[in-house]
Amino acid sequence: MKTLHASLLATAVSLALCTAAPPLLAAGSAQPWMDKARTSAQRTELVLKAMTLEEKLLLLFGYASGDQLAQIDASVIPGVNTRELKATVIPGSAGYIPGIPRLGIPAQFQTDASIGVRNPYLERTSLPSSLATAASWDPRVTEAGGKMIGLEARLSGFNVMLAGGVNLAREAQNGRNFEYTGEDPLLAAEMGAGLIRGVQANHIISTVKHYLINAQETGRTLVSAQISEPALRMSDALAFELAIEKSSPGSVMCSYNRINDVYACQNDKWQNGVLKGDWGYKGYVMSDWGAVHSTVQDANGGLDQQSGFPFDKVPYFAAPLKDAVADGSVPKARIDDMARRILWAMFDKGVVDHPIKAGAIDYAAHALISQAAAEQSLVLLKNEAGMLPLAPSAAPKRVAIIGSYADKAVLSGGGSAVVTPIGGNAVPGLGPGGWLTQVWEPSSPMKALQQQLPATQFAFDAGTHVDAAAKAAAAADVAIVFVHQWTAESLDAPSLSLGGNQDAVVSAVAKANPNTVVVVESGGAVLMPWHKDVKAILAAFYPGARGGEAITRLLTGAVNPSGRLPLTFPASADQLVRPKITGKSEGPLFTVRYTEGAAVGYKWFDLQGHKPLYAFGHGLSYTSFELGGLQASQAKAQVTVKFSVKNTGKREGASVGQVYIRAPHSAKWEAPRRLVGFDKLKLKPGETGTSAVKIDPRLLATFDEATGQWVIAPGTYEVQLGAGSDDIRATTKLSLAGRRFTSAQLRR
Ligand code: BGC
Repeated sequence: MKTLHASLLATAVSLALCTAAPPLLAAGSAQPWMDKARTSAQRTELVLKAMTLEEKLLLLFGYASGDQLAQIDASVIPGVNTRELKATVIPGSAGYIPGIPRLGIPAQFQTDASIGVRNPYLERTSLPSSLATAASWDPRVTEAGGKMIGLEARLSGFNVMLAGGVNLAREAQNGRNFEYTGEDPLLAAEMGAGLIRGVQANHIISTVKHYLINAQETGRTLVSAQISEPALRMSDALAFELAIEKSSPGSVMCSYNRINDVYACQNDKWQNGVLKGDWGYKGYVMSDWGAVHSTVQDANGGLDQQSGFPFDKVPYFAAPLKDAVADGSVPKARIDDMARRILWAMFDKGVVDHPIKAGAIDYAAHALISQAAAEQSLVLLKNEAGMLPLAPSAAPKRVAIIGSYADKAVLSGGGSAVVTPIGGNAVPGLGPGGWLTQVWEPSSPMKALQQQLPATQFAFDAGTHVDAAAKAAAAADVAIVFVHQWTAESLDAPSLSLGGNQDAVVSAVAKANPNTVVVVESGGAVLMPWHKDVKAILAAFYPGARGGEAITRLLTGAVNPSGRLPLTFPASADQLVRPKITGKSEGPLFTVRYTEGAAVGYKWFDLQGHKPLYAFGHGLSYTSFELGGLQASQAKAQVTVKFSVKNTGKREGASVGQVYIRAPHSAKWEAPRRLVGFDKLKLKPGETGTSAVKIDPRLLATFDEATGQWVIAPGTYEVQLGAGSDDIRATTKLSLAGRRFTSAQLRR
């Protein structure tokens, strides 16, 4: 789709905004809910009392944008004014929910997603993929990124951002792993929560999504995820539970799949029982686009807002919901609860008090935030014989750059999370097309390298033909091969192997030139049959708007790599729980049995004794660190682990101290050990830093379904301090008494 002219856009955005009535400023007695001195809960109750049933219902039903609206008329939604709707909704956006001007309640303008404002008509700044920034192991990085993209959302006219993907990378081939934050519940929660806090700092609502166990894209609306409650509580659900506690997102988006046979958006157990009950969640549940299957079951099952009509076939939460209230199948009190949750989020996150206003965006500053995020995230997987950095002081004379359009661009993941780059798609026309067109950010690693290494001669080869690539490599002192794997929403990766002839190209280049470096742009883990033959490998994931510059600065040593893998890179697909994705995207309903339970990622590898290609937590630096001083103690119920890190090398760098705990057999954990804490420290040469990490008791416990309690088994636990899950540098013992508690008790 072509990008609209900027002035047209500005008109569309301001037209859309003027329908959002500005809230009254004073706490006039007529509208006491506008009094900022009251709590969000008090303000919500006051406005709720002033609302008619019709007004409450208005908040519960969302529209899609653009062409989709042509399918709506008064025969579908009585009283709808499609023309007005079309003029109001921001073209190309995710959705819209009307406001209630007479009460000062603004409309909700929704935009995707976690790496930036996604809109085919709006060019915006893209962060690196969420998996990439999870590799920073530093929530400050995702928080800074969230602040930036949330500001772009605000300045583009949006007050709800569909960000915060924290589904665990349970399937290595999941096409959306790039939108998520890795395979471990603690890491996923910390990194996702940082992003959500950043987005919401702009007085807009962020979601956390997709709730729950939406682990594959193949048949995502057909699949039932079969898993025991304890296993889910200790894995995917734990990522949501912790992320919600650490960031208080205004909304939770329920997912397409079924959970143990019941659709996620009508799942009484996981929405009413766990999310709103046990975890005390006060915000609202919005559906994923097309994930609603009924009126009564969904409303009573805990869904508060139907999104993006007509993605669902039926406007379940429009007239049918009013009918259901009239015949008593959905209680009036439930409608109040639905509206209350939405209003609470709007007050609490600042949507009511800080009306959105389209405005100018400082793209240059935002590009630097994206670049800084990439620089703190990309992972140096291998660096033999000091191959890297290619320092300007000892720069090679001739460098061959091979493959993946590295002369022009870096890759993005596809689907509803892809941002239209500033300057447009640098390599148009690739991929399946339409909303699944491949998007390449116009950030050329080769150009950036030319700038960083001005005395070096560069030659580019497209990597299309093995022989030509080998010839280019043979004529250079150093060969840098860029390989890529494009993944996207709605599709899973067909395998973990790189597409086309890329493996053959790397092998041929490595044979032709002993100084071969590989840069991998991927949605997640990929297989690297040539890894022994090359000197260095940089995992760049999808590195964002300034990925080319970030990659270059890491390769040349302007920046010292400090990312660590947020998921395991297997040595072969056989090591995975399911070497192939189950099911089809069309056809009958099907189930996937997650027999591994909570043993996701490295936990599965530990359990099976598999040696991965690159382990969870792995990542190299241009300096070296000594980790020690490990101490574990317990005061009252709080376990704290302390350690120190010394930079023993010659340059500044950041280490990520990772704390794992190994349980006694009697504890019956899903796998031998879990990540329970981590801390990233930036240290000058010779400098020593210390960390004190507080351990969440749920990470030491198993979940007891019968009582709804977390249970810590008494016994002696081994505390491990590592620079990676396969690189444990120190251990100590920790004696724990038995303990039982609920999630609710932890909140008190
Ligand atoms: C995706 C969501 C997204 C929504 C709105 C769905 O297809 O699963 O993540 O927020 O569309 O675009």
